[in-house]
Amino acid sequence: MSRIVYVNGRYVPYGQAAVHVEDRGFQLGDAIYEVCEVRGGRLIDEARHMARLDRSLGELRIPRPMSAPALAHVMREVIRRNRVRDGAVYLQVSRGAGPRDFYFPGPEVVPTVVCLARALSPEVPAARALSGIAVKSMPEIRWGRCDIKTVMLLPACLAKEAARKEGASEAWFVDGEGYVTEGASSNAWIVDDQGTVITKPLGTDILPGVTRATVRDVLQKEQISLVERPFLLSEAQSAREAFITSATQTVMPVIRVDGRPVGDGRPGPVATLLRQKFHQFAAISDI
Ligand code: PDD
Repeated sequence: MSRIVYVNGRYVPYGQAAVHVEDRGFQLGDAIYEVCEVRGGRLIDEARHMARLDRSLGELRIPRPMSAPALAHVMREVIRRNRVRDGAVYLQVSRGAGPRDFYFPGPEVVPTVVCLARALSPEVPAARALSGIAVKSMPEIRWGRCDIKTVMLLPACLAKEAARKEGASEAWFVDGEGYVTEGASSNAWIVDDQGTVITKPLGTDILPGVTRATVRDVLQKEQISLVERPFLLSEAQSAREAFITSATQTVMPVIRVDGRPVGDGRPGPVATLLRQKFHQFAAISDI
């Protein structure tokens, strides 16, 4: 079965799917995206992802390319045509294609919409969650609007590549004062000695993670205390537990930070519980 991709109103074979060479997403990073988990043939936390997509478009004044029901239909159609039961759906909207110019184009330029679905075996993250992952810290070199989910991911690529070279699978950005902002593609969390969960408050310096929002719901229901405050890298290294959250990994325990074990160097009980409970609290919609 060949993969099918949605590009600007058409469902085309993967190998033929293309956008214009002067697409602003390609030339200027002038595009936003969403990644939504597909699990058991269903979409996870779709409404929150779509609300964030809408917010990203609004913040960048990219015109909405189509109605919310039409976008929902495109995502479902791509998932269905690719027979993805477990994996992720990727939706990208750029400001469109036009002669390269820093100024926004006129209304004749319409947004580019691309949607792909990819099957990912759930056993892979499940196995990683049992062993936990290592993270490596990196100086925060990103821009001042990390709350917008743009495709400007070069700092994240550089950070992840550097992490991989040292046997770590995620990078944590650390700001000038030593505070962890977030992961290259995830939000960052620790658990202190009292069992309190700590994560950075939302602001322009981190992405408002959809998984983060759902994990907050789980914490509340499970009556686990949460404090939203910045935490230092050194706190993470002496924390009882650490973990990351993202749509593709849900809750992933962190067992090493810059080579130093976190807690006893094994996935902790809070991260493990949150991972187990996550899908009971996430919104699940049919395809
Ligand atoms: N990344 N922070 C950053 C910088 C991210 O790129 C992501 C997600 C998150 C977590 O957000 P959410 O829980 O909504 O997935 C936080 C996606 C998965 C990606 O780029 O592939």
